[in-house]
Amino acid sequence: MPTPTSADKFSFGLWTMGWTARDQFGLATRPALDPVESIRKLKDLGAWGFTFHDNDVVPFGASAADRDKILGQLTDVVDETGLVVEMVTTDTFSQPVFKDGAFTSNDRGVRRYGLRKVLENVDLAGELGARIFVMWGGREGTEYDSSKDLHAALDRYAEGIDTVASYIKSKGYALKIALEPKPNEPRGNIFLPSIGHAIAFISRLEHGDIVGVNPETGHEQMATLNYTHGLAEAIWCEKLFHIDLNGQHGPMYDQDLVFGHGDLISAFFTVDLLENGFPGKPGAYEGARHFDYKPSRTEHVQGQWDSAAANMEMYLMLKERAVAFRADPAVQEALEVAGVTGLSVPTMAAGETIEQLLADRTAYEDFDVDRAGERNYGFVQLHQLALRHLMGFA
Ligand code: GCO
Ligand code: MN
Ligand code: MN
Ligand code: MN
Repeated sequence: MPTPTSADKFSFGLWTMGWTARDQFGLATRPALDPVESIRKLKDLGAWGFTFHDNDVVPFGASAADRDKILGQLTDVVDETGLVVEMVTTDTFSQPVFKDGAFTSNDRGVRRYGLRKVLENVDLAGELGARIFVMWGGREGTEYDSSKDLHAALDRYAEGIDTVASYIKSKGYALKIALEPKPNEPRGNIFLPSIGHAIAFISRLEHGDIVGVNPETGHEQMATLNYTHGLAEAIWCEKLFHIDLNGQHGPMYDQDLVFGHGDLISAFFTVDLLENGFPGKPGAYEGARHFDYKPSRTEHVQGQWDSAAANMEMYLMLKERAVAFRADPAVQEALEVAGVTGLSVPTMAAGETIEQLLADRTAYEDFDVDRAGERNYGFVQLHQLALRHLMGFA
């Protein structure tokens, strides 16, 4: 089995394996993990970095003295282990005050409080040297369409993100914001439900240059969307700032399974994209391979760590197969036959004008549509080659 090293850039949220498995129907099934011990354990397992919400380490409402003490312990263990704090995020969803959202709450006092909480955490992220500040607006949304002026909500959301971004710039932090889309849960409908919605929203921001996305595998799949396509569009827009890898079985509640334990074929193509890049634009994704999963409620402490390790093992197994898939001469030939490589050739010739296209009889009047309609693209055969690699038969 492949084993992870820090060169693999694996990173975990402390809230992931640290989840005590309290859910809507039942109590916690395991004890809370100590963040300091968790960081040591992640190091032993081969992780490179970790991430956290403010309240994963500093309890909500802690005194300034307690906060300083806890953060002191955190920086000590960072020094001791050499693990990287690559991303920091803020909890604007757990407390009752945020039940109608933070930046889009109908209550202006809550919006101002939410902004202050986030700005305080931006300072922490900046001081710890994090490069990414994730914003998951899990409570920004509605159950009832009557409950919100949707236009004003988007105005307030944009105002909030722009305020945070301009604060980052004014402080000179090397931080970029990554918005995390999710269609629903915990709200009936969450604002910015998909990667595409988030990217369109970012294009309307004043400080959108430092705002991108943090797509989570399961969140796109809950909306029946193709995660790899979403990553591709984010890369194409130069907005893929961070990723949350996990597993999901189609449109149902947010399962947060181990990466690859949901739609394995989709996970293979996600890793193919992250490690190999596009056929016409090769190159690996450079950010952290960050996991945002939850150990199932049936697992106790051993299972928490086994499942953390399983994420990295799944990724590395898929990476081995995806790299072999792309390097296989039979695959390269199948890509040619299928026209995959040909898609990189611009449709218009270099310098060709629309007039020249209109005058080109071979493009239209004399184009053999019957023959083109009879082309066998060979996509099934190509996919079969991919699955042979995935299943270890190639
Ligand atoms: C979810 C979300 C959250 C966020 C995290 C970062 O599973 O619904 O992914 O886990 O990623 O809270 O703010
Ligand atoms: Mn999730
Ligand atoms: Mn997430
Ligand atoms: Mn999550």
